[in-house]
Amino acid sequence: MTRRTVHLIKAWVRGGGRWLPGRAVLLWVWSVWQGGEEREAVLLRLFRPPGLFQPYGVTGEERYPDIFAFVAGEIGDAPGRRLLSFGCARGDEVFSLRRWFPRASIRGLDISARRIAVCRRGLARTGGDGAIDFRVAGSACGEPAEFYDAVFAMAVFRHGDLRAHPARCCPCITFGDYERAVAGLARCLRPGGLLVMRFANFRFSDTAVAAGFEPILSRPSDPGTPLYGPDNRLCPPEAHEDVVFRKRG
Ligand SMILES: C[S@@+](CC[C@H](N)C(=O)[O-])C[C@H]1O[C@@H](n2cnc3c(N)ncnc32)[C@H](O)[C@@H]1O
Repeated sequence: MTRRTVHLIKAWVRGGGRWLPGRAVLLWVWSVWQGGEEREAVLLRLFRPPGLFQPYGVTGEERYPDIFAFVAGEIGDAPGRRLLSFGCARGDEVFSLRRWFPRASIRGLDISARRIAVCRRGLARTGGDGAIDFRVAGSACGEPAEFYDAVFAMAVFRHGDLRAHPARCCPCITFGDYERAVAGLARCLRPGGLLVMRFANFRFSDTAVAAGFEPILSRPSDPGTPLYGPDNRLCPPEAHEDVVFRKRG
């Protein structure tokens, strides 16, 4: 099949073939067949590894320049700084952090083994970097306590299927899982270290561990990221989202 024929079939199924019986199934088979990122999201949604939050791997280089600049201003780039990117997808966040923190050790974690393989290939293409590593993990429980200067969990504690603002966030994701996951991230931050979270469907201030942190930066909320409370029910929207929190020392 030529590239053009494939493109035409795809366009037809996506758009013109709306009347087609089983269109959703066709789209699903198409995504799996295509491979790459689309297939990974489909497989994660299907098999739901324990602890999974956002199954989609949407990412990009320099996606959070103002936030990274703020964090760089707060903790500096002294030798020995350690950063954790939790939910690093295909690695763009880690490669962007490297530009803001040229001397730091940076670890990227992701629940998806395929995305971590992409990260490692990307790192190898740049010629390697002895102070960057990538690991497959669905939580921070394998990380040492009070170790990192900053932990980033950007666009992880959310789920793309909640964009339609359903009344409850489960079964996509639950507040209980979120609270356990952020407690794990908090544990591996040194006192005075920064926890950085953007685009979450939950409020950090609703968790028990938040008492040990002070918010130091907020950003306008994203209308496509509805908020859910500890009871997993939709909350009224808020104008701002707290994004950076300092661990009390
Ligand atoms: C939308 S991407 C965000 C990528 C990057 N942080 C950014 O903001 O550009 C969400 C990533 O979180 C990962 N993820 C979801 N649940 C996770 C978990 N429990 N542990 C580690 N990674 C997880 C997904 O595999 C996906 O790669």
